[in-house]
Amino acid sequence: MKILHISASPKRDESNSWWLSQQIVGRLAQRAGHAAVTVRDLYADPIAHVDDAYAEALGSPTGRADEGAAGGALGISEQLIRELEAADSVVIGTPMHNYTVPSTLKAWIDHVVRVRRTFAITPDGKAGLLRDKPVYVGIASGGRFSGPTARQADFLTPYLKAVLATIGLHDLRFYSMEGLAQGPDIVAAERERMELVLGAAFSRA
Ligand SMILES: Cc1cc2nc3c(=O)[nH]c(=O)nc-3n(C[C@H](O)[C@H](O)[C@H](O)COP(=O)(O)O)c2cc1C
Repeated sequence: MKILHISASPKRDESNSWWLSQQIVGRLAQRAGHAAVTVRDLYADPIAHVDDAYAEALGSPTGRADEGAAGGALGISEQLIRELEAADSVVIGTPMHNYTVPSTLKAWIDHVVRVRRTFAITPDGKAGLLRDKPVYVGIASGGRFSGPTARQADFLTPYLKAVLATIGLHDLRFYSMEGLAQGPDIVAAERERMELVLGAAFSRA
């Protein structure tokens, strides 16, 4: 079992989303008996934004599928896509930033969602080219964005669903710890709740 663990918090291993995604990775590994985990820490090793050559290559109607063999952002894109292709499961740990994903995670998305490589354009629209695999998303947020007590917009979960479906990843499972800005008691309570939620989810699957 190969797991790709993507971490998008500026607080890195001190963050709540790291804690939550680590809980998920641990349970996946335990269930599989053995797991090789590749960590892609988007703050320890920041991914540059896409460059002009990348935009030019993707914008051309006649670009080649092997255009990632070039250097620059296309080369980085190729490396990140191969990492994603090699994984049996993907675990993303992310905070909510301004109602959506942090810009570091958006930069990763801009590199892996690539026309002619991870999706094709067909007469019926975009068609994903990656093998489907489970994507577990552990979210930490300062306020609440789901359920009846939600007090803010959520562009994070619908965005990830839409953009990852574009490349063929349809099996997304979201786990969220919310309202963490209320202080350490809520953080502790949310961690306790998530242990129960994940315990139940992984004993079933
Ligand atoms: C730039 C920035 C934007 C944020 N935007 C939101 C937001 O839109 N909604 C929210 O609930 N919390 C927001 N927060 C709070 C974080 O989601 C919250 O602190 C979360 O627990 C951080 O998770 P982490 O420990 O995994 O980094 C924001 C924090 C930062 C730094």
